[in-house]
Amino acid sequence: MRTLRLTTSKKDIEHAADIIRSGGLVAFPTETVYGLGANALDEGAVRSIYEAKGRPSDNPMIVHIARFEDLDELVAGGSIRISPYAKLAAKKLWPGPLTMVFDKNPAVPSVTTGGLDTVAIRMPLSEAARSLIEQAGLPVAAPSANISGRPSPTTAEDVLEDMDGRIDAVIMGDQCDVGIESTVVDMTGDTPVILRPGIITKEWLEAAIGCEVEYDKSLLKKPEFIAEPALGAQADEDFKPRSPGMKYTHYSPKAKVRIIEGDGKFFGDKVMQLGIEAMREGKKPAILEYGGDAKKAAHKLFADLRELDRQGYDIIFVRGLDEKGEGFSVMNRMLKSAGYDIIK
Ligand code: TXA
Ligand code: MG
Repeated sequence: MRTLRLTTSKKDIEHAADIIRSGGLVAFPTETVYGLGANALDEGAVRSIYEAKGRPSDNPMIVHIARFEDLDELVAGGSIRISPYAKLAAKKLWPGPLTMVFDKNPAVPSVTTGGLDTVAIRMPLSEAARSLIEQAGLPVAAPSANISGRPSPTTAEDVLEDMDGRIDAVIMGDQCDVGIESTVVDMTGDTPVILRPGIITKEWLEAAIGCEVEYDKSLLKKPEFIAEPALGAQADEDFKPRSPGMKYTHYSPKAKVRIIEGDGKFFGDKVMQLGIEAMREGKKPAILEYGGDAKKAAHKLFADLRELDRQGYDIIFVRGLDEKGEGFSVMNRMLKSAGYDIIK
């Protein structure tokens, strides 16, 4: 299959929308990461997303919408049935990097939700994404546009690295602003529960909706170091998060990633010691350091991991962040990239 390169022009977005309407796959930029979109209501189209990504089929998709009313055909009982705090979150934080999980409407095929009776929904902010969904005139299922297990793509080039020849088209937009995937919040119970942390933090969400928000327990528990994270999606049996996607090893570049925590001196000393050891073994080491700036780390982490792979590094030493605010969310991704290998 030849993968079309499209621009963000009106004409090209219309073309992309036609492809989606006819059951094809189009990668597109959002403010978080690039998504791989298909008609969320077309089983065949959704199956081809799983195929293109090599993704386990119990890992559900996020359904992307352009207007609040689009919830009606996706959520059990329609938008009127969602909780008051979910309505408030939608009002204050949509469009934006927030995904909410609701009870599913029977109209949503079970392949889209990985067999669950809930559905995850997001209204993205980026202009290209919004006009694509509007033009298509249907809800767009879109996981991150990477081969399963690899870092999410935040540039069009990174999408092509994984997906060229496997999908119909890529909308070649700019580098994504946020750089890590949306915050996923379960809105089906009495208290909202964060299943995947993102740039919209727990504190931000609590302030927006005026009620307490919890973390899914699995986010607070660090599983033991997983021996071979680079082997792809492997479920860790002792680690059962409620968001199916969170149980697979994730975000792994080809290089081995090791996190180093502690002050600047400790980091410097460790990098020196371990870097020399690596070179003695004939390996090429790299260093990633974001000066404690969690937003910058979010924006660049996945792009940097992919770039260092392209440059042939074998081992990447990355400086850990304080697990506060956005730092908690970035560390969630870093820890997975490193297979929970952390030196402190
Ligand atoms: O920022 C994002 O969310 C990007 C862009 C493209 O919008 N999308 C994205 O999709 O990251 P994906 O498929 O890579 O991650 C979706 C996450 C997975 O962890 C999945 O398990 C979870 O959302 N999820 C989806 N549906 C769910 C549901 N019904 N219940 C619980 N978790 C769900
Ligand atoms: Mg993903």
